[in-house]
Amino acid sequence: MEPLSPHGMLPSPDHDEHALQAFVGSLRKHLASRIAPGVATVYQRRVLPRFRARQQRDPADRHEIRRAMEQDGYYMFWSALQRRSQELMWESLADTIEREHGELVSRYRGFATSEDRLGSLTLDPSLEIPRYHTAVDIHLQPGGYHSDFVADDIAAGALYDTALPIYLSGAMGPENDLLGRTLVDYLRRSRPDFRPLRILDMGCAIGNSSLTWARMFPEAEVHAIDVGAPVLRYAHARAESMGVALHFSQQNAEATTFEDASFDLVVSHIMLHETSRRALPRILAESHRLLRPGGLMLHLEIPRGGDAFEQFMYDWETYNNNETFSSYLTDVDLPQLARQAGFPEHACSLDKALVAMTAEQKNYGQQEFSWPVLVGERDEAGVSRRRA
Ligand SMILES: C[S@@+](CC[C@H](N)C(=O)[O-])C[C@H]1O[C@@H](n2cnc3c(N)ncnc32)[C@H](O)[C@@H]1O
Repeated sequence: MEPLSPHGMLPSPDHDEHALQAFVGSLRKHLASRIAPGVATVYQRRVLPRFRARQQRDPADRHEIRRAMEQDGYYMFWSALQRRSQELMWESLADTIEREHGELVSRYRGFATSEDRLGSLTLDPSLEIPRYHTAVDIHLQPGGYHSDFVADDIAAGALYDTALPIYLSGAMGPENDLLGRTLVDYLRRSRPDFRPLRILDMGCAIGNSSLTWARMFPEAEVHAIDVGAPVLRYAHARAESMGVALHFSQQNAEATTFEDASFDLVVSHIMLHETSRRALPRILAESHRLLRPGGLMLHLEIPRGGDAFEQFMYDWETYNNNETFSSYLTDVDLPQLARQAGFPEHACSLDKALVAMTAEQKNYGQQEFSWPVLVGERDEAGVSRRRA
């Protein structure tokens, strides 16, 4: 697994912690590459024929497939190991981050008060954290993205940064910026002449994807928002330590404090599936309000599966990993929601962004694949719709 590139906020595991983290990474890679494909095989060879024999028909949708698969021993085995590997991932990181927490907080304070800061950080302790973050720990991350346990906490950021390589076997790359690179590539291919001067990244977490936008468009002022204070503190210090100018603020993407028509480009990277039914239309309406006429919205999302079996596999995250909203997203017509949010009919689509694969993924023999992008272009003549 390719290690993360060093930066000023990265925790350093000791020998035994490193060994445990490497083990969990290998376990997850083994599960994904060797055990998960067997789930499709048992479905085809065992579960589907049994279903057909009993019901005289095929399963109607992913929910019927799930109910049938949950009775199968191989599926139970994979599912239990997958869940345990997720718990182990957080457990394997806790000792390192707890031991180094005091030191990391003082490094954050150093960056945040430095006279030479390139960017900025604005926190809002009065911001109400949406219930979709407080009701459960999303993907079992202890405390989610938002919980502060001590003053100037950065633990949620350190956890997210160091968990990503374990979670995805290093696929996000040494700067955890695969999603940012994928969406920047998409923009460059689809609109080579589009040169945004003000960019907003919604749901930025540790600014891992925001960073790519600042580097690719050095003339642009890049803002990045999130509801979580600890991830934002970490993001700010991380970006400063890497010499990248980013302006972070603690805001809810459903209703921000930015002026109408104040951005050329509004992006997000795998944020929508961690929101809610009520929040999603509000976020799209806010994206529309924030764009200047001719401005562009690009929300990159995790695929939801091409057929009912793939959709059932993606749903695993909802039923077993506290990604509560993601299954609902499978049935949402995103371009239709974008139209309701004010984007013109002809300027909304669900497109595909070719994933910018790392050398490791290519060496590992992975096929090229793409992720969905919700595209909306603000009409030239339109007048911004103000929030009610
Ligand atoms: C899966 S993480 C993605 C982080 C990052 N964009 C990346 O590329 O890895 C989703 C992020 O969206 C944030 N988020 C979810 N709902 C939000 C909202 N309503 N407003 C702002 N941020 C939100 C979460 O706090 C979390 O940091």
